[in-house]
Amino acid sequence: MLIKRLLQSCSTCANNDILSNLAPKSHLIQFLAGNANRGLVGNNVLVRFNSSFSFSGGAGRDLSKIERDVDKIAERISGSSNIVVMAGAGLSTASGIPDFRSPNTGIYDNLSKFNLPYPEAIFEIEYFKNNPKPFNTWAKEFFPGVNYLPNKGHYFIKLLENEGKLTKYYTQNVDGLDRLVGFKDEGIVEAHGTFNTASCVECKKSYPVEELKEKLLQDKTPTCPDCKGNIKPDLVFFGEALPKRFFDEAEIDCLFADLLICIGTSLEVYPFAGIADAPRHDTPRLLINYDLVGSFGARPADCALLGDIEHSIDSICNKLNWNDKLKQMQTQNEEKLKIYK
Ligand code: OAD
Ligand code: ZN
Repeated sequence: MLIKRLLQSCSTCANNDILSNLAPKSHLIQFLAGNANRGLVGNNVLVRFNSSFSFSGGAGRDLSKIERDVDKIAERISGSSNIVVMAGAGLSTASGIPDFRSPNTGIYDNLSKFNLPYPEAIFEIEYFKNNPKPFNTWAKEFFPGVNYLPNKGHYFIKLLENEGKLTKYYTQNVDGLDRLVGFKDEGIVEAHGTFNTASCVECKKSYPVEELKEKLLQDKTPTCPDCKGNIKPDLVFFGEALPKRFFDEAEIDCLFADLLICIGTSLEVYPFAGIADAPRHDTPRLLINYDLVGSFGARPADCALLGDIEHSIDSICNKLNWNDKLKQMQTQNEEKLKIYK
């Protein structure tokens, strides 16, 4: 019964009857393994949980218990020097890139042309091995390039680094915008991989990313010259392990953090979402998002700015007198990006 409930909580299978074996078996095993431990260590494969089942679903939480006063929030940022930032697709919507789960506009609500058995199949490794076309068509459109620019949210996180306040920035995003604002390599962990390199999903041999891009742009399906396996950019798909750095660094960074800032994520995908619960119980946590997600609101020092991210960041920067610095940084960087264009 418990296993049945757990399986029903797995959104990858939710539109399917997993018990009738439509979802890949490997996914089932990974899902159960992931569910046994939602911490950061020991759960290295990417899985998704329905927040309705999650122990930490934010819906219905009492908002009056969460600090939402921007003066107090700005004070916390000002007094912190070891901030861990975690972010998701909501950070990039202001740059024109859709997130995954927002109703109507999110990627998962716009995949009907691909006839997928369930939306997340597009990013599932076993599905990709048999049918790379849906992902390749999506990747053709979203391959990072010069189409999209970083927005205020990205520059705000970079400003935390420049001010010596950022311990590390953990991102789920693969759109490359974080790289464009120039984080130091040691300052950023791209937990769901990147489009910067590519490899064969079977023999793992690396493949020139420019060649991959060229083939995708011509609607060709690139395959491995050695084993004929499909080629994909080194993004972390459901069923694949996150990079080693994530497991080596996230837990310890959170333990020593004096503030955790969580921006633009539904906190539905693990183990990344586990970062939000990794700081000590009394460490302040700030959520900047449209809606209350994860376990925010359950801890004594939780705070939240609910609403549009750029608007929330404007109000924080106003209080900290950071608006001019942020604007200057953005203008200078955009000039540089124009030169490289
Ligand atoms: P989601 O689409 O699940 O969540 C984005 C969150 O950002 C939602 O809570 C939105 O309400 C919020 N949001 C969007 N735009 C916003 C705005 N302008 N202001 C405030 N809030 C905003 O995206 P992720 O949490 O990043 O993995 O998704 C996690 C992972 O699931 C992704 O890395 C991806 C996906 O499947 C893979 O594909 C492997
Ligand atoms: Zn190969």
